[in-house]
Amino acid sequence: MLKEKNKVTCFNRLNLKSLLVLFMVVAIPLSANSAPGHHELVTGYESFLGSSTSTGQTKTFSLTAAVTQLSIGSGKPISVWAYNEQIPGPILRVNKGDRVKVLFQNNLPESSTIHWHGIRVPNNMDGVPNLTQAPVEPGESFTYEFQAVDSGTYWFHPHSRTHEQLERGLYGILIVEDPEHNQVQGQQYDQEWVWVLDDWLLDSDGAIDDSFAIGDLDAGGRLGNLLSINGKELPSYQAKTGERIRLRIINVSNARNYKLDFGPAKTSIFAVDGNISAQAQNVATFDITPGNRIDVDLTIPASLNSANAETLIKVNNLFSHREASGDVPNGVQTLATIKVLGKVNIQKDFPVPSHDKLPDWDNAHNTPIDFSFEFDSRINFNFLWTDNPLTSYVINGKTYGEHEVTTLKKGEFYHLRFTNGTGLYHPIHMHGVFYKVLSRNGVKVNEPYFRDTALLDYNSSIEIGVVPLDVGSWVMHCHMLEHAALGMMTVFDVIE
Ligand code: C2O
Ligand code: CU
Repeated sequence: MLKEKNKVTCFNRLNLKSLLVLFMVVAIPLSANSAPGHHELVTGYESFLGSSTSTGQTKTFSLTAAVTQLSIGSGKPISVWAYNEQIPGPILRVNKGDRVKVLFQNNLPESSTIHWHGIRVPNNMDGVPNLTQAPVEPGESFTYEFQAVDSGTYWFHPHSRTHEQLERGLYGILIVEDPEHNQVQGQQYDQEWVWVLDDWLLDSDGAIDDSFAIGDLDAGGRLGNLLSINGKELPSYQAKTGERIRLRIINVSNARNYKLDFGPAKTSIFAVDGNISAQAQNVATFDITPGNRIDVDLTIPASLNSANAETLIKVNNLFSHREASGDVPNGVQTLATIKVLGKVNIQKDFPVPSHDKLPDWDNAHNTPIDFSFEFDSRINFNFLWTDNPLTSYVINGKTYGEHEVTTLKKGEFYHLRFTNGTGLYHPIHMHGVFYKVLSRNGVKVNEPYFRDTALLDYNSSIEIGVVPLDVGSWVMHCHMLEHAALGMMTVFDVIE
């Protein structure tokens, strides 16, 4: 009682000066809360990435790109373009901290390069022709070399006439294991599956439809009429009840989005674009847009098979493309089946992997927008007498080549806004960085992970936060490869 009374008296005696001091003490943390300082955003991101100490090991691989005969789906062999005569190309598996050395030989009829999608590499290893390196001409070779600083599921593909080279079959997988992390959580999975999702547009002879000329490209992107996982149509996998499978999914399609449904199986996405997530989510809640990877903890429930008979799980794609036309599969598409027979001896019950250092970017959406990018289309009325296509796809009104370079400073936080002026999907991919989606259509979201590609839906906007850490010229583009081919790409210069 006495204490409280004293407090009141004390308060009454406050003069203007102490009120002012009191106000400042309260006001400073309040404003920091509504718009965090750039410094804390940057240090939070850096500790999320962690450091990567060298293992002292170098892993060397050879990749030869060439025209090859392979069967796609279940048909007869057709002419494809492939790395090391296989589709998908090889899985390059290394440990975090290893040096990766890739001897690339180009035996294609045209120039090419290799881009390491998602993982941070030195700028001159990024594989963008005429920006970070000279194109590798037919018959020539180039050695890529970098330290694997990020663990997770990555992939690689050409960055020269990508819409055609990738579509003809040039892509492969880069897996960076984190031995430290695996000891705790990863190695205990019963199985690991790698699923590369692709759709193929085949003509009536079963060959790859060759409408790759700029004038032939479909505004909605190239949706295929044959869906495949690892180049196979409707593959069948085997599992036991109670089994836990680490499933790495990579969407290499030119334009098709996926939203997967595993029926009665339990799915938890625990990594997005290589980055471990702070909180797992069901696979059917995630739009896997071209370029995206997800790592899924797939559990076959013990209750599934009490009668001990074979059960079939259908894996369906539920993503429906609003602009799809003609005979391409749309609506519910079955991609694979999982045959469940028998049960595991011991059911693993370790926790789903999660990241405990996701930076607190909860209020980052309150920082001012530094740069805005409008993704749009443009009619070229001069298409009759110039080389321009009838429609270009543009960022802030400019195609790649006309673009203005955006300069960013290394180690600074940036708030970027992407808006979609078209009735088409645009998966936005940035090279050299991971970014975090802060809001969609002006509504704050708190995705518990960083990513390198996000789907910008029809007539919508997203805002992202990003901290570039590597100096150089990096592109940002639509990963719907027809749009990129028609101009939807720009450049960020990251400077000291
Ligand atoms: Cu997957 Cu610029 O690329
Ligand atoms: Cu696009």
